[in-house]
Amino acid sequence: MIRLGVNIDHVATLREARKGMEPDPVAAAVMVEMAGADGVVIHLREDRRHIKDRDVSVIRQVVKTHLNLEMAPTEEMVKKAVTILPNMVTLVPEKRQEITTEGGLDVQNHYDLLENVISTLRANNIAVSLFIDPDIYQVKAAARLRADFVELHTGNYVNAEDMDQIIEELEKLKAAAVAAAKLRLGVSAGHGLNYQNVREVIKIKEVEELNIGHSIISRAVFVGMEAAIRDMLKLIR
Ligand code: PXP
Repeated sequence: MIRLGVNIDHVATLREARKGMEPDPVAAAVMVEMAGADGVVIHLREDRRHIKDRDVSVIRQVVKTHLNLEMAPTEEMVKKAVTILPNMVTLVPEKRQEITTEGGLDVQNHYDLLENVISTLRANNIAVSLFIDPDIYQVKAAARLRADFVELHTGNYVNAEDMDQIIEELEKLKAAAVAAAKLRLGVSAGHGLNYQNVREVIKIKEVEELNIGHSIISRAVFVGMEAAIRDMLKLIR
């Protein structure tokens, strides 16, 4: 059964619209588990634009399923991760000006840096996932680095504008997922997935886990967190 990690960053985005106390992402983390999802995902960005250090500490204390901390492979964040001890760290590239994570990690060109970061995290019993574009060379580099998982970036698929492009992007995701599974990497996927476009991604049987945020939080504004998560679980399971 495919697993669902719910990214709750945008509950914090709404809080930061007023720089106040509500809505609290800690409450969202509790709701994610009550609704039956498999884990909570949060991204602590260098600029702390949504999730804050306090959120990460308190969410770590309340999450009993699986906490996946997305972060850039920087010294500051590695220190943070080995203090917080999430179940998994997903390493993502980060640019200050971007609205959201725009592309996958260039694993090949940051090999030495990633090797150091991954060995420190794994020495602290933290599983490591690398967020990469669906590209065979990146998959192979991730396997050489002994990552536990790759998370395939679905951004190009969800932004595809015509059927040919959609099919082409789905084929890239499928090929990368098959290659990763053969290399004994766990396979997850995410970015921009919603209640419509997720239907094709779950047909790729090598994909074990989906990490979805914005579409679930958007629906939750109207129907509540629990219903929004249950709707997604019904679709993917
Ligand atoms: N996976 C990764 C690695 C991400 O950076 C994000 C966005 O924070 C997501 C999944 C979730 O993307 P979305 O909010 O578009 O569902």
